Amino acid sequence: MSAIAREAGALLIDHFQQNIKIEYKGEADLVTAADRGSEKLIRERIREIWPHHDVLGEEEGLRDTGSEYRWYVDPLDGTTNFAHGFPVFCISLALEYRQEMIAGLCYDPTRDELFAAERGQGASLNGVPIRVSKVSRLEESLVGTGFPSHKRHQNPNIHFYHQITLRTHGVRRAGSAALDLCSVACGRFEGFWEFNLNPWDTAAGVLIVEEAGGRVTDFSGGRFQLNSRETLASNGVIHQALVAEFQQIFAGRGLEPLPNVREYAAKKI
Ligand code: IPD
Ligand code: CA
Ligand code: CA
Repeated sequence: MSAIAREAGALLIDHFQQNIKIEYKGEADLVTAADRGSEKLIRERIREIWPHHDVLGEEEGLRDTGSEYRWYVDPLDGTTNFAHGFPVFCISLALEYRQEMIAGLCYDPTRDELFAAERGQGASLNGVPIRVSKVSRLEESLVGTGFPSHKRHQNPNIHFYHQITLRTHGVRRAGSAALDLCSVACGRFEGFWEFNLNPWDTAAGVLIVEEAGGRVTDFSGGRFQLNSRETLASNGVIHQALVAEFQQIFAGRGLEPLPNVREYAAKKI
């Protein structure tokens, strides 16, 4: 898996150093030749080594032959960053056996950081074991989130962003959900959440967080499922506090009002 990810990483870096032509899958949903080239390469390598395994990839969809093994492939997580030359993106690969994720890997080729986990064997960064952070107070936490490009007008995340920003050291929006999950796993973030992620975004990162001692659930603290559309990850220690905040926000209780823009503008004059 690592060899495949590194080879795909080299392909992404090749494209990154050239002029990147952007195409659109939706209003703000970008795709590039690098996304397609990376997925093609990853599928070829999987087929050469494990010809009978099924593959679900973002760009080419599902190859389903009824195998007990299924790969989840995001050939380029962070396409918008990539297309703009902002160096935060990765390849995310995960392998499921009989509906249980058994291995996951995210490779960031710009930093040469390879995050990996095998069920029951812990998680590592470039071969060195990693653990989630021990920070126990939300007020002392740095957390991450993301905003989906699909149906972005309907996404309520800006309210969560505002509220959680005021309750923590800050909220980062780095643009690669898979790497955000890895940041929780290695203690750079205490938590991360996002609405409407797809299985290829989360399959590897969730296992990496869990194997690093963290916790991943839906927004109510219930069992995380790959197709649940709600991802809430943390170091485990602040999980309940985050779930409590989410419940308050969903119920519209205790919300800090958004500053009034007109009042602000009037004061400036
Ligand atoms: C996107 C990234 C981004 C997240 C979006 C995803 P893509 O994946 O993970 O951080 O906010 O929801 O769709 O399209 O770059 O593979
Ligand atoms: Ca993605
Ligand atoms: Ca992608």
